[in-house]
Amino acid sequence: MLVDELSTLADWIRNSSRTFIMTGAGVSAESGLSTFRGQNNSLWKQYDPHRLASREGFAEDPQLVWDWYQWRRQQIVQAQPNSAHTGIAWLQQRLPVFLVTQNVDGLHHKAGSELIYELHGNIMRNRCYDELCDYSEEVSDVTAGLSFCPQCHKHYLRPSVVWFGENLDTKVLSEVERISSSCELFLSVGTSSLVYPAAGFAHVAHSNGARLVEINIEATALSDEVDLLITSSAGEVFEQLEKLLSDL
Ligand code: OAD
Repeated sequence: MLVDELSTLADWIRNSSRTFIMTGAGVSAESGLSTFRGQNNSLWKQYDPHRLASREGFAEDPQLVWDWYQWRRQQIVQAQPNSAHTGIAWLQQRLPVFLVTQNVDGLHHKAGSELIYELHGNIMRNRCYDELCDYSEEVSDVTAGLSFCPQCHKHYLRPSVVWFGENLDTKVLSEVERISSSCELFLSVGTSSLVYPAAGFAHVAHSNGARLVEINIEATALSDEVDLLITSSAGEVFEQLEKLLSDL
């Protein structure tokens, strides 16, 4: 493990009055959940994102898409937070740390984190496919079949996640942009930094003077820009950070 880099990071975290942490699928990898890109078993290496994660894909084959999300939900309900989730929650109890995630698995909540935004939604909720119908519900049965919306009875229920081609809430976007432009330290953790607008917040923070740190097991689209690169697993890094900051 990179002792110098970690102690630099620990000092920066200790002295930052506003730290922003952006997480991606890599944070949940050590909980046994596949990432979307990178490793051979990653989801988009095995499955076509346009068939499984777009409105058009759902319209074409709702049964296929529904079954795929139920399969993912079955894995997610079994998953437990790892040292990265619990370490971030631990930091939030001691320092001003704003947490935004691209993950839909709810593991930051499970670890007790105060999460500002789940940018891409939450897989454990359903909503109506019709954008004009406001029905949404918590998922109670991860084995239930595809069904019609109980409010409008016309359209299928779909998972309440953001698909390719769908917009994020504009209020959420401007709020996250505001926080990233005023933070002192920005940690990009376990994300390939390829999917926008989420990947853009690191640039906003950096151009407004924040220190930029990346924690990832491999190089990403952001690596060349960062002030500190920690090439290690997120679980290991946050476990070590808890030790280095144990006096907080
Ligand atoms: P990706 O799958 O694109 O990237 C995961 C990143 O985590 C990669 O850069 C890996 O190297 C890294 N990684 C893997 N294991 C790690 C570990 N133990 N510790 C640290 N890093 C590790 O995931 P995201 O960047 O989150 O969209 O993907 C962004 C969005 O693309 C997702 O939210 C999803 C997807 O399509 C939706 O679901 C809407």
